[in-house]
Amino acid sequence: MSTLSVESVFITGSSKGVGLGLVKAFLELPNPPKHVFASCIDPDNDESTELREVASQAPCITVVKLDVRSDADIANAVTTVRHVLGERGLNLLINNAAVNSQLYGLESLTRDDITSHCDCNVAGPLMVSQALLPLLKKASKQNECKPLGCNRAAIVNLSTGLIKSSYWLPDERRYSYVVTKSATAIGTVMMSRELFPDGILVVGMSPGWVKTEMGGSSAHITVEESAKSFLERLSILEAEHRGVIFILSSALKI
Ligand SMILES: NC(=O)c1ccc[n+]([C@@H]2O[C@H](COP(=O)([O-])OP(=O)(O)OC[C@H]3O[C@@H](n4cnc5c(N)ncnc54)[C@H](OP(=O)(O)O)[C@@H]3O)[C@@H](O)[C@H]2O)c1
Repeated sequence: MSTLSVESVFITGSSKGVGLGLVKAFLELPNPPKHVFASCIDPDNDESTELREVASQAPCITVVKLDVRSDADIANAVTTVRHVLGERGLNLLINNAAVNSQLYGLESLTRDDITSHCDCNVAGPLMVSQALLPLLKKASKQNECKPLGCNRAAIVNLSTGLIKSSYWLPDERRYSYVVTKSATAIGTVMMSRELFPDGILVVGMSPGWVKTEMGGSSAHITVEESAKSFLERLSILEAEHRGVIFILSSALKI
């Protein structure tokens, strides 16, 4: 993991779960980032209490208000990042925020449930990536001497084993979540191809089945275990991994 040396990272959905775990794991790296942008829907609400506590002990953290469904929030977040980083550019974007209403079965599906998942899980990572792209390109250009990877410029979209039907439980019926996460995996592959010539690596990554609000208490691993192996994986990413979706030990090419 010592090879992971990211100067700046922006993480969406950092108030709890995997996002907050990643913020903490970055701080524990032998060579932690100079700037960690930990974004969340509302930095002042109860959901963000732990993030505020972590940030109060770590000057490298900038807490950013960002609801990934809001274009105004996205624009303000970019202004903040640009202001803090100046000409340095942003090395790494982790699109982690997502919703999972856990609504089961075709008969209970509603248009609202589908569109709200689309807004957060599909439009969210695409629009946040679009808005931060100039800063990622800047970092890539400034680190031209480095190989393609997280230390240069990269986008990591949180994925799930559920994009592969062979990983489903026999009664898998969470249409909105599974369909939108599958769409994001396709978007990840498209972005990886478009941004490769700019020196920006794009991959998808599942955090495993993690004990979070979304993962539930029966999940296999803790947030800390997930975040540790997530960063280990980030440290080995290189050009050949572009467009790959990492699910546990497999690397899917879709
Ligand atoms: N846990 C698992 O087992 C598992 C497995 C596979 C993939 N994943 C993926 O891992 C990622 C994190 O999941 P998790 O388990 O940590 O979920 P979680 O505990 O439910 O946390 C989700 C985070 O996303 C935030 N969020 C939700 N809607 C948002 C929006 N519109 N704008 C900005 N932030 C928003 C939440 O903010 P609030 O706290 O304010 O609601 C929260 O911080 C997701 O992409 C998920 O699909 C998780």
